[in-house]
Amino acid sequence: MSRFSEITTRKGTRSVKWDLAEELYNDPDVLPMWVADMDFKTPERVINALTSRVKHGIFGYTMPDDELKSTILNWLEQRHNWKIDKDWITYSPGVIPSLHMAVQSLTSQEEAILIQTPVYPPFYSVVKDHHRTLVTNPLVFKNESYSIDFDDFEAKIKDHNVKLFILCNPHNPVGRVWTREELVRMNNICLEHGVTVLSDEIHADLVFSEYTHIPIAALSKQASDNTVTCLSPTKTFNLAGLQASYLVTKNEETRKKLTAYFNKQGMFMLNTLGIVALESAYQQGEEWLEELIKTLEFNRNYVTERLHTETDVLRVIPAEGTYLLWIDCRMLNLSQSDLKLFMQQQAKVGLNDGASFGEEGKGFMRMNIAAPKELIEKGVSRIIQAAQK
Ligand SMILES: Cc1ncc(COP(=O)(O)O)c(C=O)c1O
Repeated sequence: MSRFSEITTRKGTRSVKWDLAEELYNDPDVLPMWVADMDFKTPERVINALTSRVKHGIFGYTMPDDELKSTILNWLEQRHNWKIDKDWITYSPGVIPSLHMAVQSLTSQEEAILIQTPVYPPFYSVVKDHHRTLVTNPLVFKNESYSIDFDDFEAKIKDHNVKLFILCNPHNPVGRVWTREELVRMNNICLEHGVTVLSDEIHADLVFSEYTHIPIAALSKQASDNTVTCLSPTKTFNLAGLQASYLVTKNEETRKKLTAYFNKQGMFMLNTLGIVALESAYQQGEEWLEELIKTLEFNRNYVTERLHTETDVLRVIPAEGTYLLWIDCRMLNLSQSDLKLFMQQQAKVGLNDGASFGEEGKGFMRMNIAAPKELIEKGVSRIIQAAQK
């Protein structure tokens, strides 16, 4: 049995995806295909490294040292062709905390922040919670594919005097891996109008074979000076519960502002096991990752093929990266609340409500395909049966 076909029960582990699903959907039979973590075990080598550290038995204050930074440097260079300096790295317990901190330290109240919708729900709250002005540049949906309206992007930046742009690359939920041309255009507009780029690249390693992830900061010297990039091994290697992530900021002034803000919150460490996981995953997880991507590609194709051939009402938006499929359900002709009930009560699958990603997500649902084929097959068959009815 391949490591990606083994089913490991997660119920009873305080798993958000499995244990909260029962509470949320009020039905133990609903198959959870929502929150973005995977139903696969992390690489064996990471488990071994963690086990060995746990056996040591003392979990005192732990420092992320130079060796850890070298490991990160190597990963970014090898996987993303991006050369950075050790000094550019700062640590954080997660990308969401990093986004909150960056918004607070790099902008002031009422200042405008731009996001591209539909998008990962916390992008809205990291702006609104701190009383910044939310400006949206809705993605254009045409011929089952999403693209950027650059005229609108620039006009919104000028009209609202935008100070910060939060980029999601690869994009959750629409699955785009932005091309070099798209990144260059966005970056040039931001440079021209003095807009700092806060780039959430948590899905950077999860890109399908025909696509390449390009860190926006790697485009040029100016781009690198104008960008704060949020990264993490937690999506890639299924380590979200260990909370280890980092930011890459070349600009010294920006980095000082960020670091000062982090320090003021008492956040300057990583947890002991997070450090071990980060290091071992980046040093020894590459072969596992290649196999994971093939599995996800298989699942993506499988779900798409079955939904497209066995129903006429569901369209899967072609995903270029991430393990999240964005499904157009508008042909079911249901209101958003009925669509949610349809998936929950008739299909008995727990998907993410498209509307939680913004106005443009109405009529869509998001499906997590990072699970063994048997579970994916079960979920897809349930949706098809319900749709056929
Ligand atoms: C785009 C994006 N950013 C951030 C996160 C969460 O990051 P973290 O768990 O490191 O806070 C997710 C998780 O789904 C995500 O999709």
